[in-house]
Formats: sequence, structure tokens, C-alpha cells
Amino acid sequence: MASILNTCGVVNNQVARVLIVGLFVALFSAVSSYRLYAQENSECMDCHTDPSKVDVKVRVDHVTGEVEIVSMLVDEEAFHASAHGGEDFYCIDCHADLEESEGEHYPNLQPVDCITFCHDDPAEEFLESSHVALMKENDVQPPTCKYCHSGYKSKRDTPRANDLSHREDTIDKCGGCHKEYFDSYRNNLHGQVTALGYVGTDIATCVDCHGQHTILNSTDPESTLGSENVIETCSVCHPGANDTFVKHVAHPKYKNISYYKEIFGAVKDARSDREKIIGIVKSPQTLITVLFVMYVGILVMTFSQFGMHSVFTWLATILDERKGKESKHGK
Ligand code: HEC
Ligand code: HEC
Ligand code: HEC
Ligand code: HEC
Ligand code: HEC
Ligand code: HEC
Repeated sequence: MASILNTCGVVNNQVARVLIVGLFVALFSAVSSYRLYAQENSECMDCHTDPSKVDVKVRVDHVTGEVEIVSMLVDEEAFHASAHGGEDFYCIDCHADLEESEGEHYPNLQPVDCITFCHDDPAEEFLESSHVALMKENDVQPPTCKYCHSGYKSKRDTPRANDLSHREDTIDKCGGCHKEYFDSYRNNLHGQVTALGYVGTDIATCVDCHGQHTILNSTDPESTLGSENVIETCSVCHPGANDTFVKHVAHPKYKNISYYKEIFGAVKDARSDREKIIGIVKSPQTLITVLFVMYVGILVMTFSQFGMHSVFTWLATILDERKGKESKHGK
């Protein structure tokens, strides 16, 4: 190139080199800065924070098939507060099909894939868990990542683990499929404190006891509540927990009607199925239930005696007044 310029005799060798290198540098930086610009979050936000440029959209959830009406406006504050709102996250990290796009893009984008490039470990842990296998056996559709990790305004705003509304929401998500255990959790101090709206990381929600993605039955020694781990699980909040402490009944059923039905059923079948009634008698639930029934009994007796006492006193006063009047007339 330089030799061509040289033969033309326009400039000398050195100037040509400087010019050409400069040209390449300018061209390269223009191209690369344009690419960078095209991938900056601010470009997406130019449209996605402007109500005159984007609106709502009717969309069908690709897993559940539910029809949803979704706002295309991105709440910047909510996004930045979310687990992925840090400086080092780009819109196109998740919306990968927009990587090469500039300005306006095609309307129907692929749903975001949380698993393949970022979260294959937790995904495997969850999808391969016996919990999910049990759901399938029971014809229950396993929840998606986005169902449990959804933000409040958009699925995009994945809450952080210590986000209090998320902790509260998780109780409802587990409780939605486990109604009875949800109700009995609410009979327990842990559940009563969280019901009052206090859901800090120092009070137990379902996942603090049962685990998150790998949930095993409490009778399995390897579960978080199994014989091998239960002391460790409770010790996180109750330092000094020991064998006696962990016998605490986490799901007292004395207010659940189904529990009394279960007892009556077992009493009825006592002859044919002795194991069942023995199991119920031995369970610590029984002691709590007996105490509860006695407590209610004492309350009922106290108040009914108090009531009867009042009624009799009132009657006696009326009778006394009458007698008094009669004796005055007599005089
Ligand atoms: C020129 C304006 C404009 C720009 C720039 C823009 N978008 Fe959009 N975007 C839209 C509009 C309009 C829709 C609604 C499309 C529809 O109704 O089908 C939309 C829809 C979307 C959707 C939802 C698609 C769906 O099917 O649910 C996502 C995700 C999205 N945009 C992400 C981005 C990202 C990431 C960027 C930056 C790389 C970006 N957009 C840049 C205008 C824009
Ligand atoms: C951590 C991944 C992630 C990042 C980063 C991300 N999004 Fe999303 N976005 C999602 C998910 C998940 C959804 C829900 C729809 C879906 O499942 O694909 C979504 C949905 C959307 C929608 C459709 C509205 C809705 O609520 O479903 C728009 C518009 C959008 N994102 C724009 C953006 C823009 C603009 C940025 C950058 C500021 C961005 N997203 C960054 C994951 C992300
Ligand atoms: C039944 C509800 C539920 C489902 C479904 C679920 N998770 Fe979780 N996940 C949790 C809870 C609860 C936590 C702990 C609190 C938190 O970080 O939100 C958690 C934590 C996480 C964490 C942070 C801690 C870690 O293990 O690194 C990641 C990442 C995660 N989940 C990814 C996923 C992915 C990916 C999927 C889909 C395959 C998924 N989750 C499905 C409930 C769920
Ligand atoms: C989509 C519904 C669904 C959700 C959400 C769900 N579960 Fe389950 N879970 C099931 C089904 C179905 C079974 C098996 C039948 C049963 O025990 O009811 C099960 C079983 C269990 C078991 C017994 C496991 C075993 O091996 O016997 C525990 C403990 C449990 N779930 C706790 C939880 C906790 C904690 C959460 C929240 C993080 C949760 N579940 C969320 C449906 C669900
Ligand atoms: C303080 C710890 C603790 C909390 C919090 C807790 N559980 Fe449990 N859960 C237990 C223990 C211990 C058992 C086994 C004994 C029993 O059934 O009462 C159990 C049993 C269960 C079972 C029966 C299967 C099994 O593994 O024995 C399910 C389902 C369950 N819990 C769901 C939930 C749900 C849903 C929540 C939240 C609403 C929750 N638990 C909150 C400790 C807890
Ligand atoms: C995430 C923290 C956390 C975990 C995990 C936890 N607890 Fe608790 N627990 C609390 C808090 C907070 C209270 C209420 C404050 C208090 O009085 O100690 C409480 C109260 C109790 C009480 C009533 C104590 C009292 O002083 O009246 C018992 C019993 C108990 N928990 C047993 C357990 C058992 C057993 C486990 C394990 C299966 C467990 N807890 C797991 C936080 C937790």
C-alpha cells in the first residue's frame, strides 16, 4: 500500500504509514464502539422505559400454557435491586437472541433459559431430586425455576435470597401444594411469628428446615431433618440444640380437622390395623392434642361455671327483691 502511495508521489513513506495505521485504528474503534453501544443496556432502556414506545403484550407461558398480560416497561429500580441487577449484567446475557440486534428488534423472543449457561448445577439438583420424582408420580406439574424465583412485577426481577418478601412468598409457594403442612406450620411458634409478618432469616420458613432444591422425607437419615442432620439444621438458629430439643413438634395438628378424622378412622379400624392406632398413640402429636383438648375443656368449664354463677346470683337478687317488696306490703 505504502509503495503504491510512494509511486504516486503524493506523500513520503513515513507519513503514509502513520496515516494508514491511524485509519485502521479509527475504523476499528468506530466499529467496536458501535457494537458496544448496540449491546449497552441503555439502548434497550431507551425504548423499555418509555411508555410511548412500548406497551403491554399478551403472551402464552411456554411451560404452563397460561395466558398472561405483561408490561414491556422495565422498572429500572426493581431490576437493579434484583439478584441480577449488578453492574456486570447485560440485558443480552439473558436475552441472548438479541446479541447482534441494533435498535428495533423482532417481536417474539425466546423465553430466557436460566439453566444451560448459568445455573445447570442447581437445576440438576432440583430436577433430579426425589421431590420432583414424587410430583410426577402424583401427576403434579413440577414448578419451574421462574415460578419460585419470580420477581413481583416481572419474572425478570429474581429476588435475592434474603429479600423478605421472597421468604414470605416461598412459604406460600410450598404451602400452595402442601395445605395441611402449611396449616400445621401456622400452629407452631415459627409459623405464628412469620404470620405476623416477621420473616427475617433468623426465623424458620419451610426451606430453612426442609432444604431448597433437594427435599428428602424427614425419615430419611440424610435429609436436613433426618437423624444425621437435624441437630445441625436447628443449631443454625438454636445454638445448643440437642436430641431432646429436636423432638419438638414442628407441625402440631391439633387444630386440623383432618387429624381428628384420622384418629377416629384409626379407632374404628383398631381391630384390623393395630399398628395404625399404636403409631398415633406413640406420636408426640397425641400429647400436644390431649393437652390442647384439656386446655379447651378447662376453659369451657371455667367459663360455663362463671356463667352459671352469674345467672344464679341474678335470679337470687330478683327473688330477694320480690321477697322484700312482699314483706313491706305485709307490714
Ligand atoms: C426501538 C425500541 C426497542 C428497543 C431499542 C428494544 N426493544 Fe425490546 N421491545 C420493543 C417492543 C415494541 C416490544 C414489544 C414487542 C411485541 O409487542 O411483540 C419489545 C419486547 C421485548 C421483549 C419481550 C418479548 C416477548 O416476547 O415477551 C424483550 C425481552 C425485550 N424487548 C428485550 C429487549 C432488549 C434486551 C433490548 C436491548 C438489546 C431491547 N428489547 C431493545 C421495543 C424495543
Ligand atoms: C438474569 C436474566 C435477565 C436479565 C439480565 C434481563 N432480563 Fe429481561 N427477562 C428475564 C426473564 C426471565 C424474563 C421473563 C420472560 C421469560 O421467561 O423469558 C424477562 C422478561 C423481559 C421483558 C418482557 C416483560 C416481562 O416481564 O416478561 C422485557 C421487556 C425485558 N425482559 C427486558 C429486559 C431489559 C431491557 C434488560 C436489561 C436492562 C433485561 N431484560 C435484563 C431475564 C432477564
Ligand atoms: C420450589 C421452589 C424452587 C424451585 C422450583 C427452584 N428453586 Fe432455586 N431456590 C429455591 C429457594 C427457596 C432457594 C433459597 C433462597 C433463594 O436463594 O432464593 C433457592 C436458591 C437458588 C439459587 C441460589 C443458591 C444456589 O443454590 O446457588 C439458585 C442459583 C437457584 N435457586 C436456581 C434455580 C434454578 C436454575 C431452578 C430451576 C431448575 C430453581 N432454582 C428452581 C427454591 C426453588
Ligand atoms: C407443585 C407442587 C409442589 C410444590 C410447589 C412443592 N411441593 Fe413438596 N411435594 C409435592 C408432591 C406432589 C409431593 C409428594 C406427595 C406428598 O407428599 O404430598 C411432595 C413431597 C414433599 C415432601 C416429602 C418428601 C418425601 O420424600 O416424602 C416434603 C418434605 C415437601 N414436599 C416439602 C416441600 C417444600 C419445603 C416445598 C417448598 C420449597 C415444596 N414441597 C414445594 C408437591 C409440591
Ligand atoms: C422448624 C422446622 C420446620 C419448618 C419451619 C417446617 N417443617 Fe415441615 N416438617 C418438619 C419436621 C420435623 C417434619 C417431620 C415430622 C412431622 O411430620 O411433623 C416435617 C414434615 C413435613 C412434611 C411431611 C413429609 C416429611 O418429610 O416428613 C411436609 C410435606 C412438610 N413438612 C412441609 C412443610 C411446609 C410446606 C412447610 C412450610 C409451610 C414446613 N414443612 C415447615 C419441620 C419443619
Ligand atoms: C431460621 C432459624 C430457625 C430454625 C432453622 C429453627 N428455628 Fe426454632 N425458632 C426460631 C425462632 C426465631 C424462634 C422464636 C424465638 C424464640 O423464642 O426462640 C423459634 C422457636 C422455637 C421453639 C420454641 C422455643 C421457645 O423458647 O419457646 C422451639 C421448640 C423450636 N424453635 C424448635 C426448633 C427445631 C426443633 C428446629 C429444627 C427442626 C428449629 N426450631 C429450627 C428460629 C429457628
